[in-house]
Amino acid sequence: MSKYYGEFLILLLIYLITCNDASPCIFTRYIYSNGLKQQLQVESWGSDSIRIRLSPDVIIQNPDYQALLPEQPIFNEEVCHQPDSNTFIHGNIKFNISDDNEKWLIQRQSDGLILIETQSITFLPYKYPLSIYSPIYSLYSLSLMYNHIPDGYLYGLGEHHYGENLTLAYHNFHLPFVFSSTAPTNGDITIPWYIHTSAFGFLWNQPGYGSFDVQNDKEIMWTANATHQLDIWITTIPKEENLSSLFYPILMKNYVDVIGHPNPLPKFASGFWQSKNRYRSQNEFLDVAKGYYDRQIPVSIIVIDWFHWTKLGEWKFNSTCWPDIPQMINQLKSYGMNLMVSVWPHVEKDSENFFFMNTTDLLTHDANGNVLPSTTDNLYISDQFNPITRQFIWDKVKRNYYDYGIKIYWLDADEPEGGRPGLQWWYGRHDEEIAMVWAREHQRTFWDGLKDQNENEIIMLSRQAWIGSHRINAAVWSGDIDSSWEELLKQIKVAQNVALSGIYWWTTDIGGYRYADLDDNQFQELILRWFQFGAFCPLFRLHGERYPPFPNNECGFSGGHNEVWLFKYSEQIINIIRLRESLRDYIEYHLNISNQNGTPILRPMFYDFNDDLECYQSEDQYMFGTDYLVAPIYTYQATSRSVYLPKIDQYNSVWQHYYTKIFYQGGQRYNISTTLNDFPLFQKIQSIWNC
Ligand SMILES: *[C@@H]1O[C@H](CO)[C@@H](O)[C@H](O)[C@H]1NC(C)=O
Ligand SMILES: *[C@@H]1O[C@H](CO)[C@@H](O)[C@H](O)[C@H]1NC(C)=O
Ligand SMILES: *[C@@H]1O[C@H](CO)[C@@H](O)[C@H](O)[C@H]1NC(C)=O
Ligand SMILES: *[C@@H]1O[C@H](CO)[C@@H](O)[C@H](O)[C@H]1NC(C)=O
Ligand SMILES: *[C@@H]1O[C@H](CO)[C@@H](O)[C@H](O)[C@H]1NC(C)=O
Ligand SMILES: *[C@@H]1O[C@H](CO)[C@@H](O)[C@H](O)[C@H]1NC(C)=O
Ligand SMILES: *[C@@H]1O[C@H](CO)[C@@H](O)[C@H](O)[C@H]1NC(C)=O
Ligand SMILES: *[C@@H]1O[C@H](CO)[C@@H](O)[C@H](O)[C@H]1NC(C)=O
Repeated sequence: MSKYYGEFLILLLIYLITCNDASPCIFTRYIYSNGLKQQLQVESWGSDSIRIRLSPDVIIQNPDYQALLPEQPIFNEEVCHQPDSNTFIHGNIKFNISDDNEKWLIQRQSDGLILIETQSITFLPYKYPLSIYSPIYSLYSLSLMYNHIPDGYLYGLGEHHYGENLTLAYHNFHLPFVFSSTAPTNGDITIPWYIHTSAFGFLWNQPGYGSFDVQNDKEIMWTANATHQLDIWITTIPKEENLSSLFYPILMKNYVDVIGHPNPLPKFASGFWQSKNRYRSQNEFLDVAKGYYDRQIPVSIIVIDWFHWTKLGEWKFNSTCWPDIPQMINQLKSYGMNLMVSVWPHVEKDSENFFFMNTTDLLTHDANGNVLPSTTDNLYISDQFNPITRQFIWDKVKRNYYDYGIKIYWLDADEPEGGRPGLQWWYGRHDEEIAMVWAREHQRTFWDGLKDQNENEIIMLSRQAWIGSHRINAAVWSGDIDSSWEELLKQIKVAQNVALSGIYWWTTDIGGYRYADLDDNQFQELILRWFQFGAFCPLFRLHGERYPPFPNNECGFSGGHNEVWLFKYSEQIINIIRLRESLRDYIEYHLNISNQNGTPILRPMFYDFNDDLECYQSEDQYMFGTDYLVAPIYTYQATSRSVYLPKIDQYNSVWQHYYTKIFYQGGQRYNISTTLNDFPLFQKIQSIWNC
């Protein structure tokens, strides 16, 4: 009796909270499943979007680490209503639960299309590992299976460059969420969000380990290893739009409305970034900066890579090799260059900070509360969930870099995989529950520190990201990829899924990172072609390890040269840098548009031409803002490539080849020839004689 009485009070409370509101924008119900009593809550969450939570604890949580902004977004005055006791409608999206509570249908009102039909939702009790820590919620392992109807393709999910035959759409794809030797690690980033060609998007609001699977383009399964509730967000287009409308921008707008808009790019960041593994000393580094300056090749940012430090976890220059930082900064200033330095989250056991960080709980712990070594016994990973760790690291970084005027940090190697998944505790929480957010917390160290100093022009470069990293100005590069033609083509495709994932500031190592042989003509041609692609990425950055290396000296090792005037096709490369310079206002303008409405500057062809089926096939080319169509060359000794130019109806527009100035009608494929001095780059322009 008393049990039912309690339930009645809860229901009454929910009634008072929700139904007293003028709009019934929340739908709740208790469900009994497998002997568990669960609470379902469906809410309006942004335009034509709903958030669904289902908790076996009977308490719906606002997770402390999540992808969604904590505040409910403001949306248009679309009404929500509940036409019957099984149905909740918000704008153009309808949620309907079967009488037996077994099946959910998520349907679009305007065309009746069933977007999602659930197959099963399973909670199993999660066995929290024996440890000195205890969970703050009851945890479950969760799986959700559903079908998409009808078939279509999905895009997004982050940055994934593995796979023999990488296609832009994910067909049969298994994505584990765990920092280990598989994804995500160096070169892979998991973003639990996708966009579907039937004009809807889906977000899995879980920060812990788990997985995503798609089979046959329509059978989907998500899992979460350790969570307290199901938490998903689904968005679609408004009633007045349809599959012929330009719907991708609408979905991206809805998405950034709930995860946060990216900021405008700092002005200095849109130019050329010079980097190499690695400059050994201040003199060597300044010679390179001077080399660019003397040749009047504009450099926005120049980079000091790893092992400029004394030990990992000291966050300071080795003064033997870097003796006069103020002089170095002044010199760079006089050249108009900004400096970025590499900063790692690891702490060596014999570093000066280890003792303090160990004794004050600033490092990753094991189940017994001891610090947990990384893959090697001498290396530990900082606990970025602990606010005192973040403050401690920032204090060091501030004293040893920021106070000299160094404001750009390269957060390299920022995956916590070395600590061994499943064995790590951070700020009293088990990694299985929250690990995907670790990198975002790491980025927060620098964001909060810089904000405290009233800095507004913030950018950092990171190898990892999660939803929300874009709001704290973490740019991303695609890790230590191969210097190969196959990899160049992969990156052209990776870039497009990255863009639809909401990673707005992105770049690759131009020329690739590994196995580049400077004496090989193939590499010399590859790096030229990669520059042509790199100039049409959101950020434009050269980096890599080059062979043969320079001999080691007293300041360590160094890869071979990576300065543009030393490459075989330097003249062509410098022309590309000048082309990028001429586009900087255009790039800023389009990144401002990302800030306003979530549309990425680099995007797949179908983003702007969703009605043109050929655009879904044209994966090796893309749009760069509204005006440029980019078709990079990714084969050795190419003399031509096939390019699809979509039909453009508006304003009598045509496509003009940027180099030859020849006009092309849209709506067909062309065989475009190329030399080393050009590549297929087209500009959409208004025709003057084609009336
Ligand atoms: C919702 O589902 C119930 C049970 O399956 C069905 O009877 C009802 O017609 C549906 N309502 C709407 C508005 O789709
Ligand atoms: C990749 O494509 C090649 C050539 O089309 C094919 O031979 C190979 O079987 C494919 N591999 C996979 C894993 O699908
Ligand atoms: C779809 O929307 C477009 C405008 O975005 C409109 O021109 C067209 O008539 C609509 N089609 C249908 C079938 O409603
Ligand atoms: C700085 O670098 C020099 C040269 O590589 C090395 O001998 C020295 O131990 C380093 N100093 C510190 C404090 O790590
Ligand atoms: C960390 O500190 C604890 C407590 O002071 C000590 O027992 C332990 O040996 C230290 N760990 C390492 C790896 O030095
Ligand atoms: C997560 O769950 C899966 C499936 O049960 C399991 O194979 C995997 O080891 C778990 N991951 C961790 C890090 O515990
Ligand atoms: C982009 O936005 C920033 C900040 O709002 C503004 O200062 C800048 O002029 C804009 N740039 C362009 C090219 O529109
Ligand atoms: C494309 O044009 C080149 C000459 O520019 C020619 O050699 C090549 O065979 C053509 N390719 C196709 C597929 O037509």
